Amino acid sequence: MTRVEELENFLRLLVNFGGVVSKETNLNKLLEIIAEQVKTILVCDRCSVFILDRQTNELWSKVALGMQHTEIRVPFGKGIVGHVASTGVTLNIQDAYQDQRFTHDIDKLTGYRTRSILAMPLKNVSGHIIGVFEAMNKAGKPFNTDDEGLLQLISSLAASGIENAQLYESLSNSQLETIYRLAVTAEYRDQQDTAIHLRHISEYSALIAHGLGLPEREVHNIRYASPLHDIGKVGIADAILLKPGKLTAEEFEEIKKHTIYGAKILCNAESSLLQIACKVASSHHEKFDGTGYPSRLKGEQISIYARIVSVADVFDALCSQRVYKPKWDPEKAREYINGEKGKAFDPAVVDAFEKVYGEILKMHALGDGKSTIIPGITKELHRHSF
Ligand code: C2E
Ligand code: SIN
Ligand code: FE
Repeated sequence: MTRVEELENFLRLLVNFGGVVSKETNLNKLLEIIAEQVKTILVCDRCSVFILDRQTNELWSKVALGMQHTEIRVPFGKGIVGHVASTGVTLNIQDAYQDQRFTHDIDKLTGYRTRSILAMPLKNVSGHIIGVFEAMNKAGKPFNTDDEGLLQLISSLAASGIENAQLYESLSNSQLETIYRLAVTAEYRDQQDTAIHLRHISEYSALIAHGLGLPEREVHNIRYASPLHDIGKVGIADAILLKPGKLTAEEFEEIKKHTIYGAKILCNAESSLLQIACKVASSHHEKFDGTGYPSRLKGEQISIYARIVSVADVFDALCSQRVYKPKWDPEKAREYINGEKGKAFDPAVVDAFEKVYGEILKMHALGDGKSTIIPGITKELHRHSF
């Protein structure tokens, strides 16, 4: 390859890299992609991306150990990586084992033999260090100044992608937390076991969506939007909502408004998750045959999200005790759902419900014990299941 061809080749690789990096919003996947690309572009054996955790003052990275990925953590200031993070300088080391700063810990853990290292700080647009790039074992020779220049370019592209992904993750986590707290507020008056109830609705809906063959993204959406289906109950008076026993016709008319209140609370939201939650809140009592409320929508006029949550909601309501009814046996509830196929419920959704019924039953049995109402929230959120 001539020098010009070589530069053209680098340019092409870099443009491709920029494109790939700007598209991925999942941080772990992004880091894997970056490491792979760096290996290809620098023609080296290994690349690790370390991310600075400001809370613990450590740098973490994922390393492959056999089939598994393990998280390793290096204290700020320690080893080559920690040195680069604390000083902000680039280190180009020909033989790591001759360098005092090198710690052998990671090599010992992975069984890898590090020879040359090119380690460079990852800086964001404001110049703050957010991590460290470490490329290892250049094929045939040590890293040269071309490699340094290339890694410099790569690292500025990578840093913006990484910051984006970090922002995206923290944003959606706080979104999810807000959503969950809203849902709890709406439910705690008429459910003794709010946390379990919400988790059930969420899991059943996700299972059914999965059974229907919806893409992962949609399963995720319905998992997090479904707990808000009854948010409109905040607008219903205690005297009606908590009435032990049968409601009068007027009282039931009042209750029906929880769908409209819910839609009002959630409408015009910017977040796509809340837009879905709005559809679910407004239409989860519509029936497939057009006899539901509030708008007597029919069939496909009802959002698929609402058609799914309606099955999950009725199954859960039947299997739970309410001030107005005892709990049913799940098998009886299942028969009821099947009896309403094509009437209250979309036949395809009932088929999906049947397909995943085993999983639903496991979930149901799991939640039958005692649970805490509010304290479990953060823990549940971290497990990403309500
Ligand atoms: P919920 O208790 O969460 O019930 C949700 C849905 O599950 C109900 O929507 C209904 O479709 C189904 N469901 C619940 N229990 C039974 C049951 O014993 N038999 C049958 N066939 N279906 C049942 P629905 O009917 O539109 O009610 C909406 C909400 O209105 C209920 O939510 C509950 O909060 C309230 N509600 C309904 N009926 C009564 C009642 O008789 N007394 C009181 N206090 N509240 C009621
Ligand atoms: C380091 O000392 O920071 C590098 C350790 C390794 O990659 O094995
Ligand atoms: Fe409802």
